[in-house]
Amino acid sequence: MAKTTTATGLPKGFRDAGQGWPELARLPHPPHRLPFLGDVLGASRHTPLQDTLRHARALGPVFRRKAFGKEFVFVWGAREVADLADEARFAKHVGLGVANLRPVAGDGLFTAYNQEPNWQLAHDVLAPGFSREAMAGYHPMMLAVAGRLTDHWDRALAAGHAVDVPGDMTKLTLETIARTGFGHDFGSFERTRPHPFVTAMVGTLGYAQRLNTVPAPLARLLLRGAARRNAADIAYLNSTVDDLVARRRTAAGDGDLLDRMLATAHPVTGERLSARNVRRQVITFLVAGHETTSGALSFALHYLSRHPEIAARARAEVDAVWGDAESPGYDQVAKLRYVRRVLDESLRLWPTAPAYAREAVEDTVLAGEHPMRRGAWALVLTAMLHRDPEVWGADAERFDPDRFEPGAVRSRAPHTFKPFGTGARACIGRQFALHEATLVLGLLLRRYTLVPDPAYRLRVTERLTLMPEELRLRLERRQAPVGTGASAAVPGPPSAEPRCPVRRAGD
Ligand code: HEM
Repeated sequence: MAKTTTATGLPKGFRDAGQGWPELARLPHPPHRLPFLGDVLGASRHTPLQDTLRHARALGPVFRRKAFGKEFVFVWGAREVADLADEARFAKHVGLGVANLRPVAGDGLFTAYNQEPNWQLAHDVLAPGFSREAMAGYHPMMLAVAGRLTDHWDRALAAGHAVDVPGDMTKLTLETIARTGFGHDFGSFERTRPHPFVTAMVGTLGYAQRLNTVPAPLARLLLRGAARRNAADIAYLNSTVDDLVARRRTAAGDGDLLDRMLATAHPVTGERLSARNVRRQVITFLVAGHETTSGALSFALHYLSRHPEIAARARAEVDAVWGDAESPGYDQVAKLRYVRRVLDESLRLWPTAPAYAREAVEDTVLAGEHPMRRGAWALVLTAMLHRDPEVWGADAERFDPDRFEPGAVRSRAPHTFKPFGTGARACIGRQFALHEATLVLGLLLRRYTLVPDPAYRLRVTERLTLMPEELRLRLERRQAPVGTGASAAVPGPPSAEPRCPVRRAGD
């Protein structure tokens, strides 16, 4: 395996912000900074993001935090974030959290450095796998997996049990990406304990996250046992994927992502993905393709259960658009515009991948104020950008899907809603996630009334992504709508979704 860390134990390419920001001292930082340890007083290892949001409110749109001798610069002001979206001057930075995933995902799409040739190759080969046509092909598979979820929830309802929302959404999204991506079934809904592949994946993600919070020089010492388990987890993931790929080489699948990876040559150069790179992409898609969507669905279900008037409006839309059709067609999902706004508003308050990093590709001045040297980087705090009162109003903390009504969207500056990142390295799975989540919310709203536990208060767990902690809901079965007919779509303009899932205007 290629060496991925430096002599200090930090991921290759990691640069302290002190080296790139000539006027770093001008940036505010939290009070009570300790020598070497930095701004750690009052910080929790379990909620780094929520701690940072607290500091963001007090310190303003650009600030820094120091942890274990390393400076990190955070940016959340709308003007500064829009400037960082300028692809001529800035690009993705493979920051500490992402670089710690390199031992498992290597130069897969998410963890590749910008200059690695395999990024462009894989992007060009795989982007058509997220086109409208490809998505229409995944739709029946998504429906089949959603059917397993509703069977599971029907059983919970019959037994009088509340449902474990984050747990079940994670099963759903994992099965969906495994089925549509690789024709694989982990049997998540049928198992009482997770599939060993899932355990290994969770183990290796947990290890990467622990590396973010343990000072690099100590990590080798403190995490020796965990590092051994991590190596075993990675070996297991690799061999399972290699077996899957070997089987597929002998018999093609039904046009899923893996078929594309194996069979598609680059449209211009004719080059193909290497076997090693295919392995990394399969693991990348399994990881990137499920927890984020699972969190988004879970937050949306939380808010729907707490706002019966919003749930009623969303349900009325589902009934009108889908009528009594047994299964909604592909086009009927894009027509659920209000359901989609519920999802957008959930991703505004809790963008489940809550930050992304950008680096200067040349010496430049951020937003005309902060000099940055080439290679200097900053973390965009999406979760705070999405709460900026100057953009979202004094009631920015309130859940209100009408913020995504088309007129309201047009009135806001570009780059103020960035749950899927920005530019060439924005999320390739955006349309996939939105189609899957809108479909599933529609199916659940149509079938159940969601009854919250009145004692529940939203707490957010931070793993690599965000999730509502211990969210349980009780269900009541709704009567199927009658007489509206599948064709009774709510009239409206054709969907404004562009065809390319990656390069959107405003990205
Ligand atoms: C609500 C769900 C999702 C959210 C919030 C989300 C968010 C993001 C964000 C913020 C990035 C950019 C990261 C960066 O700049 O470092 C990203 C990249 C990526 N996402 Fe997603 N994602 C979601 C669903 C998915 C799905 C379903 C897939 C796959 C089917 C996926 C695959 C990827 C990949 C491969 C990248 C790397 C793209 C590249 O650099 O070329 N994501 N995602």
